[in-house]
Amino acid sequence: QVILDTLDAESTIKDTRALVLPGETGPAISNDAQIAILGALNSLSSRDMISYATHEVISHVPTPEGSQIVEQGSNEARVWAALPLKGQGEPITPNQLKKAVGDEVAKVGQGRAFKNGWIAKEGDGLVKSAPEIKDITRDDLLEIKSTGTLKSGEKALADLRKRKLIVQKKGQWFSVTKGPSFSTSIAKPETDLTVEMLASGSWKTSAFKKYNFEAEGIPTNGGALHPLLKVREEIRNIFLEMGFAEMPTQSFVESGFWCFDALFVPQQHPARDLQDTFYLSDPAISLPPKKDYYGLVSKVHEHGGFGSTGYRAPWVEEESRKLLLRTHTTASSAHMLYKLAAACRGEKISSDKGEYTHGASSTTGSDRGDPAQDDGFRPAKLFSIDRVFRNETMDATHLAEFHQVEGVVADRNLTLADLIGFMRVFFDKMGIEQVRFKPAYNPYTEPSLEIFAFHPMLNRWVEVGNSGMFRPEMLEPMGFPKDVRVHGWGLSLERPTMIRYGINNIRTLVGHKVSIEGIENSPAVRF
Ligand code: PHE
Repeated sequence: QVILDTLDAESTIKDTRALVLPGETGPAISNDAQIAILGALNSLSSRDMISYATHEVISHVPTPEGSQIVEQGSNEARVWAALPLKGQGEPITPNQLKKAVGDEVAKVGQGRAFKNGWIAKEGDGLVKSAPEIKDITRDDLLEIKSTGTLKSGEKALADLRKRKLIVQKKGQWFSVTKGPSFSTSIAKPETDLTVEMLASGSWKTSAFKKYNFEAEGIPTNGGALHPLLKVREEIRNIFLEMGFAEMPTQSFVESGFWCFDALFVPQQHPARDLQDTFYLSDPAISLPPKKDYYGLVSKVHEHGGFGSTGYRAPWVEEESRKLLLRTHTTASSAHMLYKLAAACRGEKISSDKGEYTHGASSTTGSDRGDPAQDDGFRPAKLFSIDRVFRNETMDATHLAEFHQVEGVVADRNLTLADLIGFMRVFFDKMGIEQVRFKPAYNPYTEPSLEIFAFHPMLNRWVEVGNSGMFRPEMLEPMGFPKDVRVHGWGLSLERPTMIRYGINNIRTLVGHKVSIEGIENSPAVRF
């Protein structure tokens, strides 16, 4: 309002430092006052009520030490004030003076006070030699504090700068003229076109606020990665840096054949029960399987072969053709291993798209002793991280679907030591340094190992994964040469994620009880 009224009376403002702001007695010389004025100028010019030009000046401000002098007086004045006037009391000894004003003030102040002729020696002590003094340092600093400069000129300013009592600071002031929409009062422009304005016709005369195309706008909510996806990315990076290629795992639906039979899981195995596996009702049955391979698998189950006695239990084709939601990603590994063995079966290798989606797998000969003749086998390191389904009773740590992390390595003459070594490196990269292995049982691996990790927060060993060397009953029907071994391991993605984020109920991580805010604010993971 001060700006508008001044413009109304004088038509221009040559220097905004001459304005007197509301509540102030003197002109708006200080930097802070000019910053406040700039805010008002911007707001008025956005309404086209004024236009203004900016001018730069160098001004001065007191340093902290200078500000202290403004408040308490200069060192020399404080020394002077602490002494009795000559002939009017006991002189004060240098030690007493130090006690009264402090070491620093006494030291610096005495010199200047002597030089100014304010104090004198008397015996062993000091006295005032001038009955009154003018504390010019303080007066100058006061003037600088309120005006940014000194009327007395540059020499005094330079002296104060040298004494580190003031510093230079860039400042601004402004000159102002009327704009096309000048008025002495600010009309609040409309920001919205409303139904009422349209109905009454008032829109025709209303003043509307101009669009500000420079405005940054309200920040939009970006998407946020779920903690499971963050951990998945880190684990994926571990596999990739270890030279693994990612397997395609997009088919959640598998046949009993690929989920179980190909893995030498007997048809009577409890995992295949309705209580454990979700079966599809429509369609319920898969397309007919590949005759040759299917025949070999059914034979090894029912009657044995490849050095095995088999299960010698009835085999039913229907069972293997049942469609189900895969219970483990080892079903996908079985598909990939079968594909890997294609060249060993003498099939021409198709350049199927989507075979490996990431990374590189070794396609050169194995360093584990090539056979005399190329039997078509090429070593491979494969991994996947995807969803599996189990008909579980749900509780704090179990859901009917979760994610499995799985790695398989195929090469000639691999041993259990290779598997253990691999897992040590792998878990170490996940930040799990202490691991232990315990003999276990899987229908498709022999030997099998459960992996335990020491959990420092829980102060106990927790199971983190399952692993083993795939059985010849699984590998040989696929067509792998006898010296090819495949080992693999699997773990859940949820377990390390929950440990990582300190979550103890799976429902806080997955499902309708998850807090979106928690997901947005969950930190990134670095193993
Ligand atoms: N499929 C196993 C599981 O679901 C994990 C595993 C993968 C074990 C590969 C051995 C080899 O727990």
